[in-house]
Amino acid sequence: MLAAGLGVRPLKALPLLLLLLLLLLLAGARGSVESPSSLPAPPRFNVSLDAPPELRWIPVLRHYDLDYLRAAVARVISERIPKWFHTSIVKIVGRMESFLPHPFTDEIRGICDVLNLNLADCLLVNLAYEYTAFCTSIVAQDSRGHIYHGRNLDYAYGSILRNLTVDVQFIKNGQVAFTGTTFVGYVGLWTGQSPHKFTVSGDERDKGWWWENVIAALFERHTPASWLIRSTLNESENFEEAALKLAKTPIISDVYFIVGGVSPREGIVVTRNRNGPADVWPLEPLQGEWFRVETNYDHWKPVPKGDDRRTPAIKALNATGQANLTLETLFQVLSVVPVFNNCTIYTTVMSAAFPDKYMTRIRNVG
Ligand SMILES: *[C@@H]1O[C@H](CO)[C@@H](O)[C@H](O)[C@H]1NC(C)=O
Ligand SMILES: *[C@@H]1O[C@H](CO)[C@@H](O)[C@H](O)[C@H]1NC(C)=O
Ligand SMILES: *[C@@H]1O[C@H](CO)[C@@H](O)[C@H](O)[C@H]1NC(C)=O
Ligand SMILES: *[C@@H]1O[C@H](CO)[C@@H](O)[C@H](O)[C@H]1NC(C)=O
Ligand SMILES: *[C@@H]1O[C@H](CO)[C@@H](O)[C@H](O)[C@H]1NC(C)=O
Ligand SMILES: *[C@@H]1O[C@H](CO)[C@@H](O)[C@H](O)[C@H]1NC(C)=O
Repeated sequence: MLAAGLGVRPLKALPLLLLLLLLLLLAGARGSVESPSSLPAPPRFNVSLDAPPELRWIPVLRHYDLDYLRAAVARVISERIPKWFHTSIVKIVGRMESFLPHPFTDEIRGICDVLNLNLADCLLVNLAYEYTAFCTSIVAQDSRGHIYHGRNLDYAYGSILRNLTVDVQFIKNGQVAFTGTTFVGYVGLWTGQSPHKFTVSGDERDKGWWWENVIAALFERHTPASWLIRSTLNESENFEEAALKLAKTPIISDVYFIVGGVSPREGIVVTRNRNGPADVWPLEPLQGEWFRVETNYDHWKPVPKGDDRRTPAIKALNATGQANLTLETLFQVLSVVPVFNNCTIYTTVMSAAFPDKYMTRIRNVG
């Protein structure tokens, strides 16, 4: 029938079918290489830094169902935050407000007012994402000296967070001052780019911290790591300034900061303690060390057998080769299992020298 339909004589039908089958197989094989164009991009919104902090996020919230957002907040709080802690923070939030860093608290209050939730709950959600995020970040330099930076953000609550992932362009005087990827309602950034200057990502460094410590650190005026990333994108003029600020500023939890610049050798992994740097690990392209892979473990220690995303990422980069490095091949490296896994919410690839190429794709949809 197929042969007849195609107007070929029956004798020729068999080879034609084989050819069709072969084409299907080839298509299937190609499909197994993850192509970013087949994956959904998150919505992209402008947030104006020229607007007062309380009003900045309102245009974004308009695109979301407020009941859905309220349910997401309630779910994170009930599952992530100990009851006693919730009770105590509600009591002290009034005292904390006065010294929490600007403009974050005001932005959170603005979001909270729209959602008709209390400030303590919105603040807690903004602190809760600070831990139990497993991630992979890579900064690398190609043979021509271009710097590329990519990251996977892995986290529980995928079904909610995938739906709330957004690329945000922060606007100053009608220009994009910096770009970042976050979740609606979360004012910090774990991934971002300052155009023609630098790119940053943060990966959790789990030291089993306690909620008490977070509060103690906040009272000492330490800042959440994702707020520091955003402040750095907002303020730092170049790669070096950014790396220094990210290395030195007191934060409330241990973390890895991965920074990429625009010139050869501008790539670094900063391992952070709360008070300052524990280690800095720059690219050394002249020694053949043209990439750095950071997951959630100190790079100078062996990686736990049960969660080795580091070795597969290194193997994939070795196989790609420095000459073949592009944002596309970096995306492929970030798509190798288990670097890519069931908890991966999004993948972002970026290069500060080519700001328009900033690309986020939502993973594990449907
Ligand atoms: C995603 O969010 C939209 C808009 O807020 C909501 O209507 C929808 O039900 C959500 N989808 C899922 C799969 O949760
Ligand atoms: C976002 O801001 C940029 C820079 O001002 C502008 O070019 C773009 O059109 C804006 N996008 C939207 C959706 O408003
Ligand atoms: C960024 O800079 C603007 C002023 O240019 C300021 O109003 C804003 O609050 C700053 N901070 C962050 C973290 O965006
Ligand atoms: C990657 O390549 C480097 C340099 O050739 C080599 O030392 C290293 O063992 C390789 N790593 C893996 C995991 O393949
Ligand atoms: C680049 O990739 C091609 C095929 O994809 C491969 O043949 C070549 O060896 C790679 N180049 C390097 C320098 O690894
Ligand atoms: C996701 O989980 C399923 C079931 O455990 C497993 O079969 C599959 O390989 C996982 N996928 C990835 C990308 O890790």
